[in-house]
Amino acid sequence: MDTRYDYQDTDQDLALSVDDVVDDIDLGEPDEPLDEAAYRLWRKAVTFGTWNPADIDLSRDREQFLSLERPLQVYLEHFCGAFYNAEENVAKVFCPWVMSVSTTWQQAYLSTQLMEEFKHTDFFARYFKEVLGIEKPTRALSNPVHESLVDRAETLLTSYRSGSDDRTLHLVEAFTHYQGIIEGVQANAGYQIFLAVFASKGMLPGLAEGFRSIQRDEGRHVGFGMQLLRHYAHQNPLYAERIRAVYNEYLPLIQVRYGVPLTVNGEVFDPPAEERGRERLMKLYERRLKDIFS
Ligand SMILES: [Fe+2]
Ligand SMILES: [Fe+2]
Repeated sequence: MDTRYDYQDTDQDLALSVDDVVDDIDLGEPDEPLDEAAYRLWRKAVTFGTWNPADIDLSRDREQFLSLERPLQVYLEHFCGAFYNAEENVAKVFCPWVMSVSTTWQQAYLSTQLMEEFKHTDFFARYFKEVLGIEKPTRALSNPVHESLVDRAETLLTSYRSGSDDRTLHLVEAFTHYQGIIEGVQANAGYQIFLAVFASKGMLPGLAEGFRSIQRDEGRHVGFGMQLLRHYAHQNPLYAERIRAVYNEYLPLIQVRYGVPLTVNGEVFDPPAEERGRERLMKLYERRLKDIFS
């Protein structure tokens, strides 16, 4: 089966979409104290984070999905399934992140993130049911970066309860893992892929609207994450070293998820040529390290 797509991607397109997404990150000035950043983002979240997943019209997406060629249908289900699983998994284990930061406004801000991750889950639950016509993703690709998040949450909770000296170190590791890598690199690469494969061609307007709202929320999530990591990296070289070590550890695990053919009932489908996942991922990876260390 021919799974190639008639689309010419260019370096300029790649660079533009990277900047479009990166500029959405709500990162404060380098001298902004962490608690002021948390209060600023808390205020923003309660004012602007009020979109409702139930209000998005998905009827045109359903029509378009039914008329897509089979390889793109398979790709869309796989792509949305990765987001659905990721949003739901994190929403269910995020409480220790909220509890482990040290001040009222940092906790208040992170409580908005907890609710927003459930809101993103709600959007994808609707998308599966109403557009793809199934309750849940049927093929869950293994994602070791996500699967190890449960252990990260356990460690965070244990060190929070014990009040041990390495509490801050575990907090830094947990923020690097979740806000730094999963949200700041993996999810951001996903938004760009959606733009390149579907939205830039005017396809799937409901999913595009959902992603625009999700991305605005994620701009705050990644922005606060980067600000917290920057704060601790400058406070202690041990924390800076751990942040770099966690980024290095996960890089090979996030790279392997792109450019791989999908096999469904013995049929093999190549990903669309414009995915260019590894390139997008590497640009974001470098950008995040710059956000923290420059
Ligand atoms: Fe999310
Ligand atoms: Fe998020």
